[in-house]
Amino acid sequence: LDNGLARRPPMGWMSWGYYMCGVDCDNNPHKCLDEKLILSVADKFYTEGYQEAGFEYIIIDDCWSEKARDDNGRLVADKKRFPRGMKYIADYIHKLGLKFGMYTNIATKTCMGYPGSRGHFEVDAKMFAEWDVDYLKVDGCFVKEDYLNTAYIKLGAHLNATGRPMVYSCSWPYYIQFIHHKKPDYGAVSRHCNVWRSYHDVATSWPVVKAIIAHYATQYEHLYRFHGPGHWNDPDMLIFGTNSLTDSQSRVHIAVYAMLAAPLLLSCDMNSLNTYEKKLLLNLDLIAIAQDPLGVMAKPYVLQYSVTLWVKPHLPRKGDKYHSVSFALVNLSKDETTVSFIPGHYGLNSTDGYTVMDIFAQVFIKNISLSDSFQVSLSAEDSLIYTMFPL
Ligand code: GLA
Ligand code: GLA
Repeated sequence: LDNGLARRPPMGWMSWGYYMCGVDCDNNPHKCLDEKLILSVADKFYTEGYQEAGFEYIIIDDCWSEKARDDNGRLVADKKRFPRGMKYIADYIHKLGLKFGMYTNIATKTCMGYPGSRGHFEVDAKMFAEWDVDYLKVDGCFVKEDYLNTAYIKLGAHLNATGRPMVYSCSWPYYIQFIHHKKPDYGAVSRHCNVWRSYHDVATSWPVVKAIIAHYATQYEHLYRFHGPGHWNDPDMLIFGTNSLTDSQSRVHIAVYAMLAAPLLLSCDMNSLNTYEKKLLLNLDLIAIAQDPLGVMAKPYVLQYSVTLWVKPHLPRKGDKYHSVSFALVNLSKDETTVSFIPGHYGLNSTDGYTVMDIFAQVFIKNISLSDSFQVSLSAEDSLIYTMFPL
């Protein structure tokens, strides 16, 4: 969607992956979706360096509202969990220089049965704008294919008419492909949405993360051309901070998301991120790959069974003739392996050669020429990323 927004893949936090429909705060206070939680995420972003690294949007997913609209047909935030309403939260977040996101569904009800926006597009768009929402995730449960193909466009027009800049996140193609078993019109989706889900929900487990990675590896040809500044495929949230991954699996998770130029949306108790996960999230060399202004989705090359080389060109720096290129080696197998490749065969073209940075170690390791072969040994379920900068 060419509305000037999401020129780089959005970064932030979204409630669903970990908190899900966290409405039972009395019995389950550790999974409670309420004002206190949202403000605490904002505070963490502000005080612990996440904001400087680029984490910006704080997005409340499903289960934020009362069970019914009010007498004027307006959505109302749950009075117990959000006693001061959503505008209060928006103001708090904005004062810290961060951005605020919310959720609705394109049908009469949300996926969890709360009031949805069908029949109320105009009033809801205006209300989200009044609440100073900066990002709106619009889900697609419970409706037919034809309706999905028209309704997302209509709701987008209502959002646009409010004049408030809101990143428009659509689940449209996911429902077309995986619920209705038809081919999504990604051209239309990328014209009308800033971000869209194109695969199943993430869950806090390594096999699910692997399935998402495998999907993007096999669907690259169908997805990459629709991916870029203002319009992004969204592989769903990162599962850091949920005690679901080993350190090496965490490297794989973030390496692939960064190389895809995917949105980086955390979903966890910010106090539960371990030291290593935090280090990865605040690795600015890694974030620079994810946020490169060219916004290219890395291309996967299968080097061996379960070993993929992802290649991502970057925007040349001002005045530079040649661009840098990042290479991520991803080993999804349970065996250690050794791989080699010739970077010069993957879009490098400076005859002066390149200097190579190991992105996880954040050190320059050597210089190479176009014909040099590059050999690395890769642990089981692990990833290494190298960015090659032209000399
Ligand atoms: C769907 C979406 C999830 C989340 C839930 C909320 O499953 O894909 O990301 O928004 O609905 O009910
Ligand atoms: C803002 C933009 C519009 C439109 C809407 C919807 O109003 O200026 O172009 O994209 O947001 O998000």
